[in-house]
Amino acid sequence: MCGIVGYIGKKDSKRILLDGLKELEYRGYDSAGIAVLQGDNFSSFKATGKLINLEEKTKDFVTDKFSIGIGHTRWATHGKPTELNAHPHAGENSYVVHNGIIENYAELKKELLEDGVHFLSQTDTEVIVHQFEKNLKTSISAFEAFKITIEQLHGAYAILLVTKGEKETIFFAKNGSPMLMGIDSDNEKYFASSDTPLIGHCSDINYFEDGDYGYVSPDALVIFSQKNLQKEPVFTKLSTNKLSAQKDGYRFFMEKEIYEQHDVITDTLLGRLSEERVIFEEIESSLFDGINEIKLCACGTSYHSALTATYLFERYSKVKTSIEVASEFRYREPIMNKDTLFVVISQSGETADTLETLKMAKKAGLKTLVICNVDNSSMVRLADACILTRAGVEKGVASTKAFATQVTVFWMMSLYLAELKSSMAKEEIQKQIALIREIPASVRVSDAMHEHIKRLSKRYLHGHGFFFIGRDVFYPLALEGALKLKEISYLHAEGYPSGEMKHGPIALADPELFTIALLPEHKLYEKAKSNVEELSARDATICAISPLEFDKADDLIPINRCKDYMLEFFEMMVVVQILSLEISIRLGNDVDMPRNLAKSVTVE
Ligand code: F6R
Repeated sequence: MCGIVGYIGKKDSKRILLDGLKELEYRGYDSAGIAVLQGDNFSSFKATGKLINLEEKTKDFVTDKFSIGIGHTRWATHGKPTELNAHPHAGENSYVVHNGIIENYAELKKELLEDGVHFLSQTDTEVIVHQFEKNLKTSISAFEAFKITIEQLHGAYAILLVTKGEKETIFFAKNGSPMLMGIDSDNEKYFASSDTPLIGHCSDINYFEDGDYGYVSPDALVIFSQKNLQKEPVFTKLSTNKLSAQKDGYRFFMEKEIYEQHDVITDTLLGRLSEERVIFEEIESSLFDGINEIKLCACGTSYHSALTATYLFERYSKVKTSIEVASEFRYREPIMNKDTLFVVISQSGETADTLETLKMAKKAGLKTLVICNVDNSSMVRLADACILTRAGVEKGVASTKAFATQVTVFWMMSLYLAELKSSMAKEEIQKQIALIREIPASVRVSDAMHEHIKRLSKRYLHGHGFFFIGRDVFYPLALEGALKLKEISYLHAEGYPSGEMKHGPIALADPELFTIALLPEHKLYEKAKSNVEELSARDATICAISPLEFDKADDLIPINRCKDYMLEFFEMMVVVQILSLEISIRLGNDVDMPRNLAKSVTVE
């Protein structure tokens, strides 16, 4: 959680830091702050809420000479989202920004308090700067003090620290939270939690490894590894395409990302389908040698896409497949057998709980695979193999195109495995591949459909709750539809298997209970229909999403008739996404930055 930026050089550091934070605001927006050292003077500004408040506070602040600066946008973990708890945190002569969690902060804080140090905030981060200043008193250099401080910290962090005694230096350390550094053509250095703030400034970037620490100055770039060995940076080229990260005239990034699904799924398929087989050049088929079971592990939306995969892997590949919520898997002392392929699914590749399960699987000696959207993310670097989903930068906090590309990859993977395991006839695989080629068309948003959902959304702004219901793969889609709605509308919504409603939830049925019924033509239509009829008979308000007319529905959102249930899945996916979007817009919510959420959950 949280985003950090840093800059050292002669350019307008205020602008660079604020623009960088703007790009990272999706990682958290409870508060933001910057600290800049120009000459002998530190200037620090903090504001609660979105970045615009910090912009306002800094409007008269000018940076027109050499300076070093650090900035932070926060998603609160320890301490309320107040100005005092906002970063950068100050000591007597130093400032620090931090992303992650310092697990032993309470012990360190206790000792510092006993030494008479005065704390201003309730955060774990503030101990870093005080601990540094304590170490400074007994160290031969600021860098030595920084190094000792880092050794004393337990937990996850990406840290930038600046101090008055070293007016031309930024100290950095990374362990478990993302951080990278770029250099521009004037040899000036930039830091950020992800690459987007650096686009337009730097053409080459270095991703830090866990355990890396060091410092930069105008002439130096010194990196040490976890083993205290000095190492060279490994620069990779940074894309120059910032346009793709802009809104392109849509009201919200989420809306743009829903419309983009056609293009990104086309990218996801690129080079991966021949007439008769699925090709994943990035993985060796030997990855599946000796594998009798697949275990999927993820959080949130990625969990829902993985749940869809459990149906496809068992149905098409005939491989035993199970799934776990990462935060549960971590602590329940699971049995991990070596004939299990451990697959983690993540848009960001940084989600703390999912990352931890990957580490557990690796430790237990399991083969591992990650399905991920962010190349070079922590999970991608850790797993034995990786399939990238190619959804592009997803800025809306509510995930849409990442989910769509994940399910696309899973559908392809089920056929890849079907071929490997000879569980499906060649002709059947060919037929499925032809269907996969139709996904991009299935997710195209027509004006008529969007307009219809927009008009209808005004009838669904109240009530005492929503039930999204479906069977088979439409059950994970129901879970995802409900998650989308609650995330951005703040209305209560649940996803449920249609057949389970009569085992309890049907007691809630009345006209104020809104049921969003997923009724595909090609998967268990009659059974799903009778489940909905039971609800309709009890006067629940029914909004059916189906290619077929349904006279028991109060409202019907029609989808195109398709050849296959998976194509109906993608058609309905777009409908539930737009329904959530339009309800949320009518309620006046900030769709892209829903309250209490952040894009990347890098704390457990
Ligand atoms: C919901 C959403 C979250 C994420 C979850 C996992 O719209 O985006 O539920 O899916 O936090 O994130 P990743 O996929 O980055 O591991």
